[in-house]
Amino acid sequence: MQILVNQKNLEFHLYNENISYILKVLDDGTLGHLYFGKKIKHRDSYQHLVQFTSAEVPVTPNALDDKRGFCKDILLQEYPSYGNGDYREPAIVVLQENGSRITDFTYHSYEIVEGKENLKNLPNTYVENSNEAKTLKIYLKDELIGATLTLSYTIFRDYDVITRNAHIKNESDEKLILERFLSASLDFKEPDFQIVHLSGAWSRERHVEISEINQNKFVIDSKRGTSSVNSNPFIALKRKETTEFSGEVYGFNLVYSGNHIEMVEKNQYNKLRVSIGMNPFNFNWTLLKGDEFQSPEVVMSYSNTGMNGLSLNYHRLYRERLARGVWRDKVRPVLLNNWEATYFDFNEEKILDIAKKAKELGVELFVLDDGWFGARNHDKAGLGDWWSNLEKIPSGVEGLSKKVEEMGIKFGLWFEPEMVNKDSELYRNHPNWILRAPNRKNTPSRNQHTLDLGREDVREYLYEKISKILRESKISYVKWDMNRPMTEVWSEVIDSTKQGEVFHRYILGLYELLEKLTTEFPEVLFESCASGGNRFDPGMLYYMPQTWTSDDTDAVERIKIQYGTSLCYPVVSMGAHVSAVPNHQTNRITPIKTRGNVAIFGAFGYELDLNKITDEEKEIVKKQIEFFKENRELIQFGDFYRLVSPFEKKLNDAAWMVVSKDKKEALVAKYKILSVPNAGYESLLLSGLNEDYLYSVESLQVQGESYYGDELHSSGLIFKEPSFSDLGNLQIEGELDSLIGDFKSCLIKLKSI
Ligand code: DGJ
Repeated sequence: MQILVNQKNLEFHLYNENISYILKVLDDGTLGHLYFGKKIKHRDSYQHLVQFTSAEVPVTPNALDDKRGFCKDILLQEYPSYGNGDYREPAIVVLQENGSRITDFTYHSYEIVEGKENLKNLPNTYVENSNEAKTLKIYLKDELIGATLTLSYTIFRDYDVITRNAHIKNESDEKLILERFLSASLDFKEPDFQIVHLSGAWSRERHVEISEINQNKFVIDSKRGTSSVNSNPFIALKRKETTEFSGEVYGFNLVYSGNHIEMVEKNQYNKLRVSIGMNPFNFNWTLLKGDEFQSPEVVMSYSNTGMNGLSLNYHRLYRERLARGVWRDKVRPVLLNNWEATYFDFNEEKILDIAKKAKELGVELFVLDDGWFGARNHDKAGLGDWWSNLEKIPSGVEGLSKKVEEMGIKFGLWFEPEMVNKDSELYRNHPNWILRAPNRKNTPSRNQHTLDLGREDVREYLYEKISKILRESKISYVKWDMNRPMTEVWSEVIDSTKQGEVFHRYILGLYELLEKLTTEFPEVLFESCASGGNRFDPGMLYYMPQTWTSDDTDAVERIKIQYGTSLCYPVVSMGAHVSAVPNHQTNRITPIKTRGNVAIFGAFGYELDLNKITDEEKEIVKKQIEFFKENRELIQFGDFYRLVSPFEKKLNDAAWMVVSKDKKEALVAKYKILSVPNAGYESLLLSGLNEDYLYSVESLQVQGESYYGDELHSSGLIFKEPSFSDLGNLQIEGELDSLIGDFKSCLIKLKSI
C-alpha cells in the first residue's frame, strides 16, 4: 500500500496490491478525479488522463478563459461545488451572509498520515497499527468565504477499499450555513453500469434490486431519521456483464445511521456521478468563526471478481476493522428470545420455564424482550420507565437474571431507550423531551414518540437508568431496539434558525450514548434492532457487532432477506432466529430443519417456547444447536459465497456456502422453496475452495464421497435425488432429509482429506 505524489503536477496515486485511486489538482486549482479501479502501473504523471478538449463545448461554461474546453460540467471531480458551470449534483452547498450559495474550493496543501485517524464523535473503520493504512489529506480553501475543506482518503493494506470523508472549518468572521455536506462524490468517465441496491419494507428488508442508468438521476434516500429498511445506505455499480463471481463492480456504503442520500447521475456528456452522504433534505448547520463540521465516512470498494468479491471486501473489513470490542472476534452465543414465544403475556414463572427448556436443549443465552418494565403490558404504555415491573417479575430483573444465570445460561435484556409512550412516568414528568413541533399534533407510531436524543438531559436520564440495571443485574447481552420513524422533527433546545440540525444532532446524541455504555460495559454483547432491520448500517455495527436482521422470521422470507443483507454485511452481524409455525408474519408452515438451516447463517438463536414443540422437534433442535456450535467459527468468520439467488430462478431456489480461511472446511446450504415434480437431477457449482484439495462430502443428498475443489468449482456437486412426483418411488434414506417437498433444504459439510 502506498500513496505516491507528483509534487510538480500535484497528482496523487493511492494503491495497494489490487486497487488504484488517482486524483489531481486541475488547472483551475479544483481537485480532479482521474481513476478508481483495478490497480494500474504507477507513472510519473497521469496528466494525459485528464479529460477536456481544447475546442469550445457548446452551451457549456468554461472555467478557464484560455482553455475553452475546460468545462466543469465534463471534468471528473472529487468534491464539486455549486455555481460555476457544473450542473450535476454538488457535494457541498454553503449559504453565505450575502445570500450567495456559490463556492469554489481550490487546492491549498496536502498531508500524508500513517494509518488512519478516527473521526470525532462518528463511527468509522479503523486500524490497529499505523502500518495497516495510509491517509491522504487534501486541504482546499475558498478564500472568499474563508473556509477550509479537508478531504481525507484512506487506502488500506489488506482490504480493497478506500474510505473517504470531508471536514470543513469556518475561518472567517462571516456566518456560513452548510446546506449540503456530502461525504463523497465520485465521477466516472463513462456510464456503462447498473445500480444494485437494497430496498424493501418492514418484513421484506434489503431485497436486491437492479436499476438501469439513464440520463438524469437515480436517487436512494432516507428522510425517516433512520438509515431505514426502505433504502439501505449501500449501492453498487456493476457492469452489465458482471456476475456473482466475475466482472467489475464498485460499492459505496455510508457509515451513518440517520438520513442519507445516494445519487447516481448521468449527464448529457455520458459522465456518471455518484454522490453519497447525509441527506441535505431538512438539513442545515451553522458555522460561526472557528466552527467545524465533520461528514460521516463512506467506504468505497472495488472488485473485479464480481458481486461476491465486493461482498467479501466489505465482510472482512467490517468484521475486522469496523466492529469493535471483546465480541468482535468471538463466536456468538446461541440465544433464545421470548418475544415471539410470549409477546407481552408472561410472568416470572413462564420465563424461567422457557429458559430452563432452552438450557436443556443447549441454548447459551436467554433474552428477555419487551414488556419487563414499567406498566408495559401492551404497546400503549410504559416505554421510558426503565425499572422492573414487579407484578410480572417479582424478583425484578436483578433477581430473575441471577436465577437464569444459576441455571447455567446467560441473561440478556431488551431496551428501547430512544422512545416513550405518552402513558408513562417519563412522559408525564417530561412531556417536552420528545421531538415535537410547536402547536402541531404529534404523529404517533406504535403509540410511541421519539425522545430528543440531541438533548443532554435526555441522554443523561437514559444513561443513568440503563447503566444502573446493567450494573445491578447479571446482564450479558442487550438488545437495543428503536421502533418508529421520526416525525415532527423539531427540538425546543435548538434555535429556530437551526432546526435543520436536529436530525443529525439526534444521531450524534445516539452515538455518544452508545459509546459511553459500550465503553463502560465492554463484556456485554450489544445487538441493535429497529423494528428488525431499520438501522442495519455500518454506523450501528461500529457500536454493536450484530443487528436483528428482520422481524420476519419465516424461513422462506429470511432466505431473501439474509441473501440481500449479505451483499454488504457479514454473516456474523445478522441476528437470525428459528421461530414457531405457522409463522407469525406469513402464516407459512416450514419444517424446523429448514428454519434452522437458514438461521444458522447468522448470529443464531430461537424465538419460540421450546416447551411447546414435539419431542421429535426437540431432538432436532438439540442437534441443530450441537451442529451450530461445532461449526460456528466457520459460519460466522468464514468467507461467504452466494451460489444461487432467491431473486432469480423463478424465486424457487437458493444456495450459499461458507469456506474457512484455510479452505479446509466448508458448509454448503441448499434451499428449495416449492417442490417441482419431475425436475430431473441437479448439480450445484461451488466457489471459494482450494482447487487442489480433495474434499470429503458429508451428506445424504449428494452423490459420491469426495470431490476435488476444481471439480466442485467447474463441474459441481451432484445431487442424488431426482424430484419424483410419485413419493411412492422415494428411495432416499430418512424422509426428513429429503429435498422433496415444499420448503426443504439441506446442509453439506465439506472437509479436505
Ligand atoms: C421490534 C423488534 O424487532 C422485535 O424483535 C421485538 O423486540 C419488538 N420490537 C418488541 O416490541
